[in-house]
Amino acid sequence: MNTKREIFDSIKKEIDLLLSDAGSRDQKLAGICKILNERLPHYDWVGFYLVNPAHPRELLLGPFVGAPTEHIRIPFGKGICGQAAANKEVFVVDDVTRETNYLSCSPFVRSEIVLPILHDGNIVGELDIDSHIAGNFDIDDRVFLTELCKNLSLIF
Ligand code: SME
Repeated sequence: MNTKREIFDSIKKEIDLLLSDAGSRDQKLAGICKILNERLPHYDWVGFYLVNPAHPRELLLGPFVGAPTEHIRIPFGKGICGQAAANKEVFVVDDVTRETNYLSCSPFVRSEIVLPILHDGNIVGELDIDSHIAGNFDIDDRVFLTELCKNLSLIF
């Protein structure tokens, strides 16, 4: 069985290829969701929220893999996603049941990581990952996903 770091090394190459391929931005984002969901343990819901061009303080649900969510539009400041967007900072929650400003997408979710995607210092979207395991996201996840979101800036 591969360690998480080995998985990161191998999917980094796949994602780099995907990003350099032809294809729309949504196709690339959907491909990344699929790779992360399939290859990383307990990445149970993986999706992107994109800043609404018509309402720059609102997030719109983009490509995702996992259970459907009712949270299609999220105002900045609301929930984990909205707070990460407002602060332009990574937000890791080890136990979502302890958060008061939290939007539940499924009762099975226990931990979550949200990473902003910045372009020229402005937030353009976010990567949001939910896990059914508490404390699923450690420093290795954070470092790998931060680097990924930095590279994603290029397709915005
Ligand atoms: N949990 C998020 C909402 C998005 S769903 O999990 C897909 C939040 O609190 O912002």
